[in-house]
Amino acid sequence: MSSKLAGKSALVTGAGSGIGLAVAQRFAAEGARVYFADINHGAAAAAASDAAGGTSTALAMDISDEASVAAAYATIAAEGPLDIVVANAGVQLFGQDARVGDLDLEVWEKTVAINQRGAFLTLKHAVRAMAGLGGSIICTGSPTAVVACGQTFTAYSSSKAGVHGLARVVAADYAGEGIRVNTVVPGYTETPLVRTIAADPVSRAGLVDSTMLGRAGTAADVEGIMVFLASDDSAYATGGLFTVDGGLTAL
Ligand SMILES: NC(=O)c1ccc[n+]([C@@H]2O[C@H](COP(=O)([O-])OP(=O)(O)OC[C@H]3O[C@@H](n4cnc5c(N)ncnc54)[C@H](O)[C@@H]3O)[C@@H](O)[C@H]2O)c1
Repeated sequence: MSSKLAGKSALVTGAGSGIGLAVAQRFAAEGARVYFADINHGAAAAAASDAAGGTSTALAMDISDEASVAAAYATIAAEGPLDIVVANAGVQLFGQDARVGDLDLEVWEKTVAINQRGAFLTLKHAVRAMAGLGGSIICTGSPTAVVACGQTFTAYSSSKAGVHGLARVVAADYAGEGIRVNTVVPGYTETPLVRTIAADPVSRAGLVDSTMLGRAGTAADVEGIMVFLASDDSAYATGGLFTVDGGLTAL
């Protein structure tokens, strides 16, 4: 393993499972000091204790709650500067997210509160933490923000389109302060989030067949682009969408 992130400090939200877990552990392996943040503190603690390489710390953090977000950033600030933030935590309410005419307001509100408000709060406190120092912020977006994917994910798609827009405007507003903001767009990636699709052969085949590479993604497929965007190798990249979807959105 290289040490592309040696000497850097990173916060990864949603690090208790799936993509966030893989990315946080990879950042640690690349030499970073990593804060594994999750609403599920037990999962974050297990993921952090499993990590090899740089120092790993678990943090309880509910991204939809500003007091919780501020407290997590205060804990990090007390230990030193923060170079990298991956605003990754999110939910998708399978079986509840529906066609707009059938969508319950509370499903909409819950999805937007976590995915969109959560990204807003994570970035709001990230730019404050990086003031005067600069840094790299990476949001986890979704193909559903740009294409319908043949699925009915009204609340989820809308919340992720909000994340893409947020990342773009924060990139423009903070470029002069040395803060870069990019969005990684994973395709269908088999994590606990999509367990309902993975368990349904017809839905799964529909998504896999929509890729050029003819397979589902894994959390490990997303690690490399995250390391690139977190590291100085991507010094000229900001405001971008980085798609890792096996060709799903280009087909
Ligand atoms: N899996 C996919 O196919 C896919 C595709 C595109 C984008 N994404 C996005 O990738 C991100 C990670 O998804 P995943 O597939 O790894 O899911 P996952 O369910 O495996 O992990 C999500 C993590 O986020 C945490 N979380 C949920 N609500 C939270 C909150 N309020 N505060 C803090 N943490 C919270 C969960 O506890 C969990 O550990 C999400 O933003 C998701 O929308 C996933």
